[in-house]
Amino acid sequence: MTNNDLMVKFLDIYGGNADGVRVFSSPGRVNLIGEHTDYNGGYVFPAALSLNSTVLARPREDGKIRLMATDLRIPVEADLDQLEKYKSIKWGNYQLGVADELQKAGYRLTGCDLLYHDTVPLGAGLSSSAAIEVATAITLISLGDSSFGKSRHIDMVETALICQRAENRYVGVNCGIMDQFASAMGRKDHAIFLNCKNLDYRHVPLNLKGYKIIIANTNKKRGLGESKYNERRNQCETGFELLRPALPGAACLGDISFEEFEQYKYLIKDDIIRKRVEHVITEDDRVLKSVEALQDDKIELFGKYMTASHASLRDLYEVTGVALDTLVEEALRIKGTAGSRMTGAGVGGCTVSIVRDEAVNTFIDEVGRNYLAKTGLKADFHISEVGDGGREVI
Ligand code: GLA
Repeated sequence: MTNNDLMVKFLDIYGGNADGVRVFSSPGRVNLIGEHTDYNGGYVFPAALSLNSTVLARPREDGKIRLMATDLRIPVEADLDQLEKYKSIKWGNYQLGVADELQKAGYRLTGCDLLYHDTVPLGAGLSSSAAIEVATAITLISLGDSSFGKSRHIDMVETALICQRAENRYVGVNCGIMDQFASAMGRKDHAIFLNCKNLDYRHVPLNLKGYKIIIANTNKKRGLGESKYNERRNQCETGFELLRPALPGAACLGDISFEEFEQYKYLIKDDIIRKRVEHVITEDDRVLKSVEALQDDKIELFGKYMTASHASLRDLYEVTGVALDTLVEEALRIKGTAGSRMTGAGVGGCTVSIVRDEAVNTFIDEVGRNYLAKTGLKADFHISEVGDGGREVI
């Protein structure tokens, strides 16, 4: 749908004319490497996609937020001064959670009519929720500022943190900061090298000369994914508590080097907890090395770290499963694949692969065919473009 089509739809739903309707947008992300490290104070390396959540918005004066999406029939209506009431609604809780956290952070909001249109596939591990949250946040901040005669440059890092809080406290998903940060801070043709402990970051040019980034969706529903996610978080915390007495200077697993882990891993008697911690520590190391490889134009080496990351997520962190493992195995069979791994929380969702330009068509044909034959599932492929972070669309 073009922005024009969306405007027609907006006016169809909410009436009036196009004057005063503004358009905002924020992207989903693909994480190139650094998985399950963010909530451990480690490194991540995501890039914003050109798939977005787009919001058309117009202020209203009665303190109500009305929400609608292009693929939804039932509108949601909420009072800005009673946001606690809507936590359990099925659709709209991400948006209202953001409104709630913005108000708690001192932002003055106005009522408004909002229409959402999402091109990030939902529930596929490409951060459709962070895209919606960040798009909502910049919309509500901008409309509030205009209504109350304030003008400011939106602090996108603070916005990302508010969106994460909305997801943690309002929606009840205990996610880290990576997704919201990538959606808010993305830059076209760059990945973001982010230290999740202190939010230091750097945009790194994605000069993948001769290669493409291919995202493949397993189309396997995540099912119990969320409970596994929280369980992994708890296991990491337990592991850290066991290492801490030996390393009093460390505040999180991200502070512990591989050598220190090797020296003190005997303190973790439980095999499962030790494996989880080993994943986090080695993954952190892989992020550092792969960013270096990319900067040195060593794409094949970068790909090797990605593939090693998948093996670690499969064997040590155990968040892959048959669908993701099959897609990666099939991807690695193609001559011209530099590397392949799951991206996001895991269990279902997507893989990301780096593939030579001339092998892209074969990749899509053969991986798709073999994956279908082995799992009975049809994968979707997407040659990804790296886009900008959240913004008002002019
Ligand atoms: C999800 C979470 C992120 C991160 C990844 C795993 O996408 O929202 O915070 O933990 O899983 O790396």
